[in-house]
Amino acid sequence: MSVHLEARPGEIAPIVLLPGDPLRAQFIAEKFLVDAVCHSRVRNALGFTGIYRNVRVSVQSTGMGMPSAAIYVHELLTAYGAHTLVRIGTCGGIRADLRTRDLVLAQAAATDSAMFRATFGGATYAASASFDLLQRAHALAVAQGRPVRVGTVLTSDTFYPDERQPTPWWTPWAEHGVLAAEMETAAVYTLAARRGARALSILTVSDNLITGEQTTADERQTGFGDMAALALELVTEPS
Ligand code: HPA
Repeated sequence: MSVHLEARPGEIAPIVLLPGDPLRAQFIAEKFLVDAVCHSRVRNALGFTGIYRNVRVSVQSTGMGMPSAAIYVHELLTAYGAHTLVRIGTCGGIRADLRTRDLVLAQAAATDSAMFRATFGGATYAASASFDLLQRAHALAVAQGRPVRVGTVLTSDTFYPDERQPTPWWTPWAEHGVLAAEMETAAVYTLAARRGARALSILTVSDNLITGEQTTADERQTGFGDMAALALELVTEPS
């Protein structure tokens, strides 16, 4: 048991998928895992462990935003020995050429958060994906014929920015090649690096902030299922 997870030692697999939404964790367990058991219900942040293609895999919901995600990631790494973390979530495109339902593999995560500033004495840390996971996820997505982009995302503390600002908040980020905004990846990458674990964020574009394009609820559900299947293939294929 850790502070926010009630699983006993050994009940969580070293490979963990990380959706934000508890019901999506349950969806993955029910749709894809064999012999899935719910390993934690604390605060309804549901987590499940089961088998996919003969490999034990856990799915742990993280909630929204870095402070919430960091709690679960820290406990998975330090109390349960997780060594491979794959976030699966959505992002908002900040470049006009990103279409909804495109996959974004987060090679790196910039952040507007102060969360890790003290750790690096005020300097900026370049939170980045595990190259091994990144290049294999890319190869799988290409083999499946899925539109996929690899690049930097912005992990933001803010979902609803102050719309009265004269310049759209995304301009400097987009002008430095950032593809999309989301709210958890920098924490996952930073904490995984701190503990020597592998990490990758696989994201689906749910909306484009520039074009205004948005996915329907049905598209989001289908896109999420496809992304979970890709993540499960990735973490269970022999590397
Ligand atoms: N901002 C942050 N996270 C998101 C967004 C967004 O616009 N869209 C989907 N996840």
